[in-house]
Amino acid sequence: MKVLVTRRILPEGMAILKKAGFDVELHDSETPMSPQKLRELARDCDGLLCMLNDPIDRHLLENSQLKVIANHAVGTDNVDLLAAEELDVVVTNTPGVLTEATADLAMALLLATARRIVEADAYLRSGHFEGWAPTMFVGASLSGKTLGIVGAGRIGQAVARRAEAFGLRVLSRGSRDGVPMAQILTESDFLSLHCPLTEKTHHLIGVDELRVMKSTAVLINTARGPVVDEEALVVALQEGGIAAAGLDVFEEEPKVHPALLAMKNVVLLPHIGSADQETRRKMSIIAAQSVVDVLEGRRPVHQVRVS
Ligand code: GLV
Ligand code: GLV
Repeated sequence: MKVLVTRRILPEGMAILKKAGFDVELHDSETPMSPQKLRELARDCDGLLCMLNDPIDRHLLENSQLKVIANHAVGTDNVDLLAAEELDVVVTNTPGVLTEATADLAMALLLATARRIVEADAYLRSGHFEGWAPTMFVGASLSGKTLGIVGAGRIGQAVARRAEAFGLRVLSRGSRDGVPMAQILTESDFLSLHCPLTEKTHHLIGVDELRVMKSTAVLINTARGPVVDEEALVVALQEGGIAAAGLDVFEEEPKVHPALLAMKNVVLLPHIGSADQETRRKMSIIAAQSVVDVLEGRRPVHQVRVS
């Protein structure tokens, strides 16, 4: 059995694949391969352990003998789930283990934007700090404010728990229920996104949504870039439609809209929501074990199906 691992992963995951006796090909890098290279290498593999930025499309699936796609992520918007199902390829993901890490990062972005942490750090490092002043880096308070959460799944709920400890009032909605979207948009001082990327959530936050948000509002996105219309967000930030943004994900990663790079009221991170030691260790173990389970004829712990 041949397995392709499309990026360097933590050693605990690699050990599981090696122990199973598979012929493991590792793309030993932090940089993704080109889609053509990925297709080429996947062609004669039985299993694929891949990343959220590896496009697993119908063409790749049809021209391979793959039996399992183990996505080293909770989101599976990079995989053509319908094609996989039609071709009998099992798709797995890594839910649960990254809930707390991602919620931590959403709070970190919320605090960093509200209290202007990154901007203040840059100010100090550049030698501008000449002593405490009442008017210096005055930010937004959290206590008593309203946090809107869109996507009331595991991660959204974990953010709500943290937010309550900070004295925030939480309004949340899932795909089917919860507080109406219009109320979330108009009442939120902070709006944090925690939904998966689907056809329904693509550009969920666009021109119209940004227009009804408070001019003092802060948008936090740790979900997927295309949930937000990035061009519309840039305009809203430029025109004072909303006050600030904390972004871990972008519409065309790794590209970031150049206007965002120039804004002081925006905190930008390179998609590190699940990046803590424990979480990444567990993700590598679950993804590797999923490959082993499917190739050895067992049911994997987390199979993703077309919804
Ligand atoms: C990260 O973005 C993930 O989906 O795991
Ligand atoms: C701030 O450092 C204060 O003592 O008020």
